[in-house]
Amino acid sequence: MKILAIETSCDETGITLFEVKGGLKSPSFKILANELASQIEIHKEYGGVFPALAKREHIKNLPILFDKVLKTSKVKKFDLISVTSGPGLEPALWTGIVFAKEKATEWGVPLMPVNHMEGHILSVFGKDKGSFSIPKIEFPALSLLVSGGHTELVLIKDWMKYQVIGETLDDAVGEAFDKVARMMDLPYPGGPEISKLAELARIQGLTLDKPLPRPMMYSKNFDFSYSGLKTAVLYLIRDLGKLDEKTKMAIALEFENAAIEPLIHKTKKAIEKYGAKTLIIGGGVSANKHLQIEVKKHIKIKTLFPPRKLSTDNSIMIGMVAYLKYLKNKGKVPRPSSIKAEGNLRLK
Ligand code: KG4
Ligand code: ZN
Repeated sequence: MKILAIETSCDETGITLFEVKGGLKSPSFKILANELASQIEIHKEYGGVFPALAKREHIKNLPILFDKVLKTSKVKKFDLISVTSGPGLEPALWTGIVFAKEKATEWGVPLMPVNHMEGHILSVFGKDKGSFSIPKIEFPALSLLVSGGHTELVLIKDWMKYQVIGETLDDAVGEAFDKVARMMDLPYPGGPEISKLAELARIQGLTLDKPLPRPMMYSKNFDFSYSGLKTAVLYLIRDLGKLDEKTKMAIALEFENAAIEPLIHKTKKAIEKYGAKTLIIGGGVSANKHLQIEVKKHIKIKTLFPPRKLSTDNSIMIGMVAYLKYLKNKGKVPRPSSIKAEGNLRLK
């Protein structure tokens, strides 16, 4: 069967068309066409994603990408539409949902809503072109989801059986990277910029006189907190006055260490407590080199990272979830009128 997948939860508009086959034991995917329109250049000016602008851009991009996908794939008919219904920015989510509902009616096909975070989990098995399948993994698995909007530890008992065991109480880790970058006049998105400076500081052996805090590192739960760390950087920069390049590098390094250490520490603890056999890391921050190195150093179970192009938001991961859900629910989908944008949708 053929599945069309749509993603508009934040600042990327994505549409993918797949040919899928296989049962729940070995679902496989062939990408017939994939289009992604990034709005990063548009939001750069604002130092972050501006929801009204994101909405306008999605509305403009969706029909263009849809036509392109049909043209490149030469497909005349598909069997299922899937769309991200949350979590994310509600005005942005609605654009994808409204468009998907229109197309579902027009083409007379069912519509499947998808949780964006489940997409980030499955992204580790995807590719940005060609064919791939979801292999058998050992459960229980644990997922560390780190993005601009989320910092979560999710226990996965089986596909589609999730339990959030810990999450950020305030800012997400990617958001902290972006905000600290902004304090140092670095462009949006700040994660890769901070990471580059931190790497230079590591090579040159630069350090800060006073360490930054590691928030909630030793708390007895699996929760995280990033707003205190961000504020500590704000005060530090205020006290230092004008920053030279070397000081910026040293701040970036100390911040990156302080942001990543609690992630590693709590992930390790959760693996021990729940006896996890597989670790899945997803979301934009999973592209962070220091995180990848520290995971390799400290975590001994099988660990999966998404391919670079699937670490950030995309519609490939949405179609993957849709097919698993379709198989698991034996083709049943919710009533279209019950499908709505849920900014705070949780995994369960
Ligand atoms: O998953 P994603 O594309 O969007 C959300 O759903 O939020 O994640 C974007 C986030 C941004 O905060 C960005 O700064 C961060 O991922 N990011 C990174 C790196 N690459 C992207 N953070 C740290 N290091 C990186 N190399
Ligand atoms: Zn995301």
